Amino acid sequence: MRSDSGYTTSVWMATDVPDVPKLNHNIRTSVCVVGAGIAGMTVAYLLARAGRAVVVIDDGEIGGGETGRTTAHITAALDDWYSEIEKLHGEEGTRIAAESHVAAINKIESISALEDIDCDFERVDGYLFLGDNQDKNVLERELAAAHRAGLTDVELLERAPITSFATGPALRFPRQAQFHSLKYLNGLARAIVRDGGQLYSATHAKTIEDGEPAKIVTSEGHVITADNIVVATNSPVNDWVILHTKQSAYRTYVIAGRIPRGSIPRALYWDTCDPYHYIRLHEVDQLIDPSHREELLIVGGEDHKTGQEQNPEDRFRCLEEWTRKRFPMMGKVDFRWSGQIMEPVDYMAFIGKNPGTDQHIFIATGDSGNGITHGTIAGMLLTDLILGRKNPWSKLYDPSRVTLRATTDFLKENLNVAGQYTDWATAGDVTSYDDIKPGSGAVIRRGVKKIAVYRDEEGGIHERSAVCTHLYCIVNWNSVERTWDCPCHGSRFDAYGQVVNGPAIMPLAEVDSDVPASR
Ligand SMILES: Cc1cc2nc3c(=O)[nH]c(=O)nc-3n(C[C@H](O)[C@H](O)[C@H](O)COP(=O)(O)OP(=O)(O)OC[C@H]3O[C@@H](n4cnc5c(N)ncnc54)[C@H](O)[C@@H]3O)c2cc1C
Ligand code: FES
Repeated sequence: MRSDSGYTTSVWMATDVPDVPKLNHNIRTSVCVVGAGIAGMTVAYLLARAGRAVVVIDDGEIGGGETGRTTAHITAALDDWYSEIEKLHGEEGTRIAAESHVAAINKIESISALEDIDCDFERVDGYLFLGDNQDKNVLERELAAAHRAGLTDVELLERAPITSFATGPALRFPRQAQFHSLKYLNGLARAIVRDGGQLYSATHAKTIEDGEPAKIVTSEGHVITADNIVVATNSPVNDWVILHTKQSAYRTYVIAGRIPRGSIPRALYWDTCDPYHYIRLHEVDQLIDPSHREELLIVGGEDHKTGQEQNPEDRFRCLEEWTRKRFPMMGKVDFRWSGQIMEPVDYMAFIGKNPGTDQHIFIATGDSGNGITHGTIAGMLLTDLILGRKNPWSKLYDPSRVTLRATTDFLKENLNVAGQYTDWATAGDVTSYDDIKPGSGAVIRRGVKKIAVYRDEEGGIHERSAVCTHLYCIVNWNSVERTWDCPCHGSRFDAYGQVVNGPAIMPLAEVDSDVPASR
């Protein structure tokens, strides 16, 4: 598939995704889903199964967002930890969190079986081991909290089953899983169309309005009217402020290289560092290794706030160093890519009715590093809400919730955002076009304006206003993905200014317009 969320490509992107048309007419439907990632496609699949008329639109390809950049650990071992979640949401909250994530793993397994989706779904154990200089108490606390949450089969072992380095003590989470994310979405797409659903790619939702019916206008002016709209754009593009003060966008990095088959037991592995490292194995393409002697080791980590790293290349270097020290059997790095994660201040995803007065607009966001299960939970929960069924998980995931105990993190993240506005007053990254190499970008100051300047591979110059069209922070050049990334709430734009990630919904403005493009 073509990557429309950045310059790098993941292991999964070698897989073709269904070629679906662009929307070129108006439509009336029961439910319109915006965003064809794991969340949107799962909602669409379950609603179509329930007999609803469903339309899915995506401004890129199916799976072209973060679902194509995931590492696809499918797990109930939550990366914010049960011991921390319990402090904010209590024992009942952790119990629902555990129950819903276990249900999501089972749901993916049952859908794969029912729809005969050949997506390399595999049950594996997960191991959480200690990071450098960390104390075993951390694991003991997490074990006790996981047990209180109902995951009574989690156990503390003396080490994870890795022999190339001493992991120290580790928690074992039995019967977790992994899969190939795009093969799974392909299967969902096939089933949605079979059940009467319609899929459209290259179709950007420009405005989304509540009402009876609710209404979407695409950037080409086509109108979709629907009884209900689900905004599954990873970062919601319909909400301007409320949710974006309750979650923050982070970049995360992945490398993959070949190792001799069997040198690491098939499992999921995570350490307790902050940011943490995440590890899994995957089949090497048969064409590359017909003898089946090798498999791919996939390692991720090195997260940072979006738009706040000047040298993202360094993150790959650190990740490779970390990996080679612990897994010296890894050959050359075959793949490297990065992606975006939304981190809610109180650790739980936001899935439900859009906060405020909206009656017919639903959202799924705040995925953390557990977005595959969170996206699947969104599928189940939003289907129930739209069909008018009660769901015991709705309160925990309610996007309108206020978690007072998370106030310190809320203030910290929002002070960080406020600090980014000082970029309006600073000099540009460079003073002359000559300092910008082909395939690269930089912000230049011109009088009071800041201009995002990209020089393409042929040397052509492309200019856009450097003012983010969400809430007007100044974007920064991301040299790894060749995108303009906003340090405030994580909007991203391609080298020519088109939106890659929300919350922005409008492209970067032409340089001559005085005001940033409005929503
Ligand atoms: C490197 C990395 C590793 C990860 N590892 C794991 C893991 O091991 N386990 C796990 O559970 N989670 C993991 N995650 C998280 C998980 O992959 C994501 O949370 C999940 O895939 C997000 O799915 P989504 O459907 O919410 O969003 P996406 O897959 O991003 O889908 C949103 C879609 O909305 C579309 N869109 C946006 N705006 C518009 C618009 N205005 N109009 C039309 N379409 C629009 C986009 O094009 C996109 O296709 C990882 C994420 C990354 C980046
Ligand atoms: S993402 Fe909010 S100002 Fe850019």
